[in-house]
Amino acid sequence: MKSSDAWTPIAKLDEITKGKLLLWEEDGYSLLLTQIADRIICFENVCPHLGWPLEMSAVNKDQLICPHHGFEFDLLSGTCPFAPELSLHHFPVRIRDQYIEVRLNRVGPNGPN
Ligand code: FES
Repeated sequence: MKSSDAWTPIAKLDEITKGKLLLWEEDGYSLLLTQIADRIICFENVCPHLGWPLEMSAVNKDQLICPHHGFEFDLLSGTCPFAPELSLHHFPVRIRDQYIEVRLNRVGPNGPN
């Protein structure tokens, strides 16, 4: 298991393609990466609706569309316009030496849950 507050390199920057999802799974984590404009987004591969995987979701500009029931999520904020109580679970991201590093501490974009 990774240290709870460690920055972990999970992909090279050139592995990310705008409009596509990159799946990373290790140590019990299942995360998705994508790029919106110049920002790298990392979130848990779990739909907040029923907990099903999001890796087959479509990405339309800055929206993620879950393949199971079609709920849409704003990738930057994580929110679902149709169900404000549902939100993607983001992980903090930084770039170091062409690697994307993620802090595997299971906190959202606004701090610890
Ligand atoms: S499981 Fe994603 S919308 Fe239902």
